[in-house]
Amino acid sequence: MKVIRTLTQMQSVSRRLRQQGRRIGFVPTMGYLHAGHLSLVQGARQECDAVVVSIYVNPRQFGPQEDFERYPRDLQRDLTLLKPCGVDYVFVPQDRQMYPAGFETVVDVPRLAAGLCGRTRPGHFQGVGTVVTKLFSIVQPDRAYFGQKDAQQAAIIQRLAADLNFSTLIRVLPTKREPDGLAMSSRNIYLNAKHRQQATALYRALRLAQERMRAGERSGSRLKQAMQRLIDKYPAVRIDYIDIVDARTLAPKAMLAGEVLIALAAYIGRVRLIDNARVRVHYKENAL
Ligand code: PAJ
Repeated sequence: MKVIRTLTQMQSVSRRLRQQGRRIGFVPTMGYLHAGHLSLVQGARQECDAVVVSIYVNPRQFGPQEDFERYPRDLQRDLTLLKPCGVDYVFVPQDRQMYPAGFETVVDVPRLAAGLCGRTRPGHFQGVGTVVTKLFSIVQPDRAYFGQKDAQQAAIIQRLAADLNFSTLIRVLPTKREPDGLAMSSRNIYLNAKHRQQATALYRALRLAQERMRAGERSGSRLKQAMQRLIDKYPAVRIDYIDIVDARTLAPKAMLAGEVLIALAAYIGRVRLIDNARVRVHYKENAL
C-alpha cells in the first residue's frame, strides 16, 4: 500500500495502471474511516484490479458555521485500517494543490442539490460536486464507490457523471450500521453516551416507516407524522427534515409508489446526523 501526496504522482500512477490494462476502483473519503468506508473498499477490491482510496477533508463542502476545523482527522489510524483491506494506493492531496490561488471553477447540480440536505447546507453539494469531479479527473477510475448513507450525494454524483460524460461507473453500496441500527458515520464519535443512545431514533423512525408501508400506508404526510411522533419521544433529537422523495429524481412524493427514498436529518446537541431508507413500493393491481 503506497501513500501518494501529490497530484502529479497520482496522475502518473493512474496512467501506468491504465496502460497495464488494470481496472481502477476508487473510493473517495474524508478519512476517520469506519466499517462503512471499508465496505466500499471491499466492493472495489472485488470488482477491480487496483484500488485507490482518497482521504481529503474538502474545505469547500463545509459551510462557515460547520465543523470543518473539528472534523476528526487521524491519518495513521486510517492507514492502519486500510492496510489489511487490499488497498493499492492511498491518495492524500493537500489543500494548496487542490485549490491553488486563482481556482474558480465549480460543478453544480442545482436541482438535485436544492432539497433535503441542500436546504440546511447551501453550497455543500457544489463543494462535493467540484471535489469529486477533480478527484475523478486526477484518478480517472473505471469504477467509483459511494454509500447509500449519503443518498442525495450519490444521486448528484450519478447525475454529474452522466451529464459530463465521465467513463467512470458509479456504484452505490448499502449503509453499514452499528448493532443497534445507528448508521456508521465519522461524526458519531462526537456523541456523548446519552446522545449516542438517543441517536437510534433516526433508525427507529425509518424502521417504523418501513413497517407502516408494508402494512399498506400510502400517504406520505401520515408516514412523516408517525415518524415525527416517534422521534419526539427522544428529547435530545431535533429534526432538521423528514422527507419522502422519488429515489432517482429526489422530487417530493405525496403518495408512496415506485422507488421511494425516506430521508431524514436531525441534530443531537451540535451533531448533525442523516439517514435514509430506499423502499420499492409495489402496486397491487385491483382484481376485477
Ligand atoms: P465521507 O463522509 O468520508 O464518506 C465517504 C464515503 O463513504 C461516501 O460515499 C459515503 O456515502 C460512504 N459512507 C459513509 N458512511 C457510510 C455507511 N455507514 N455505510 C456505507 N457507506 C458509508 O462523503 C464524503 O466523505 C465526501 O462528501 C466525499 C464524497 C469524499 C467528497 O469530499
